[in-house]
Amino acid sequence: MILVTGGAGFIGSHTCVELLDAGYEIAIIDNFCNSRPEVLDKIRTISGKDFKFYEADLLERDKVEQIFEENEIEAVIHFAGLKAVGESVQIPLQYYHNNITSTLILCETMAKYGCKKLVFSSSATVYGDPASVPIREDFPLHTTNPYGSTKLMIEQILRDLYVSDNEWSIALLRYFNPIGAHESGLIGENPNGIPNNLVPYVAQVAVGKLECLSVFGDDYNTHDGTGVRDFIHVVDLSRGHVKAVEKVKSTSGAHAYNLGTGTGYSVLDIVKAYEKACGRKINYKIAPRRPGDIAMCYADPEKSKKELGWQAEYDIEKMCKDSWNFTIKNS
Ligand code: NAD
Ligand code: UD1
Repeated sequence: MILVTGGAGFIGSHTCVELLDAGYEIAIIDNFCNSRPEVLDKIRTISGKDFKFYEADLLERDKVEQIFEENEIEAVIHFAGLKAVGESVQIPLQYYHNNITSTLILCETMAKYGCKKLVFSSSATVYGDPASVPIREDFPLHTTNPYGSTKLMIEQILRDLYVSDNEWSIALLRYFNPIGAHESGLIGENPNGIPNNLVPYVAQVAVGKLECLSVFGDDYNTHDGTGVRDFIHVVDLSRGHVKAVEKVKSTSGAHAYNLGTGTGYSVLDIVKAYEKACGRKINYKIAPRRPGDIAMCYADPEKSKKELGWQAEYDIEKMCKDSWNFTIKNS
């Protein structure tokens, strides 16, 4: 059985569907601090399969132990964490406590029960402002906000853990920009309040909930002056986790992998692709740069292709189409 922490969340829910489709039994732990219980039934509907669910906080050690006591957990995918960059600057202690302490409790419990296979949700944010693109896993690492620092610190903790005990097998998955939704339109990204990220914001403009997108800067050194990112379909990303589980089950070590497409699209490229997907005009205006943003960020996904046997399949049209389908079905 695979334990999925944060399995009710955006990426976790899609990954649970892929794991169930691949024939794995799963258990989920989530405290719904950034998700909703309805997601669980949607995972059941899409996959046609059932699973165990524990409503609990990873900070509650006895609850985490109970899961390992009651189930034969062979590997863990660890999504649970707080993820809003701006908020992490406002409430850093909560970010460090939630993300780091919960990982320590999880790993201590895993070690106690002899489960030493772990897939961890890291982020391309650990590359900071890269000297060049595409970004390889061996590029220098540094962070600019508490959220990013939690990811980098956890990566270091997990590498140290492997050094201390070579039976551990750990995949550090560095996600680029996950967007889109399951093509059923049942699960997707549904942020509370006004979205911070580009595609959820564009979706709300398209559906008429928000009036106008602010494009943060048009004077970057990119093909049209707006920021360039490596957008990846959340279903592709989720399939990368199934490959990573297979990898950690069959090897040992602590290895980082980029999960991105290798292609960069600008903010205005996204606006155009979304307009095509929804058949509506997206109002936008050029606004000042957002502090902390970088010009370009996209992956070199070669290592994942070679070592995980994984590569992204879906293009930007499919990402926008599935995002739109989810948006209209859930507004
Ligand atoms: P999400 O917020 O949708 O999912 C995280 C889930 O974890 C939520 O369901 C939340 O309720 C749960 N959770 C948080 N803290 C918990 C705790 N202490 N105990 C139990 N459950 C807890 O986020 P997501 O977009 O699915 O991201 C999943 C992981 O991937 C996160 O670690 C995030 O930092 C990382 N990541 C996300 C992105 C992105 O763009 N979405 C990019 C890079 C990395
Ligand atoms: C952000 C996070 C990053 C996280 C990633 C996950 C910040 C600073 N970084 O990255 O840690 O891993 O999300 O998806 O928050 N944009 C606009 N208008 C908007 C929103 C965004 O023009 O209303 C632009 C941004 O300036 C950027 C691009 O769109 O150029 C993508 O932004 P966003 O979706 O927030 O992702 P990142 O900043 O890449």
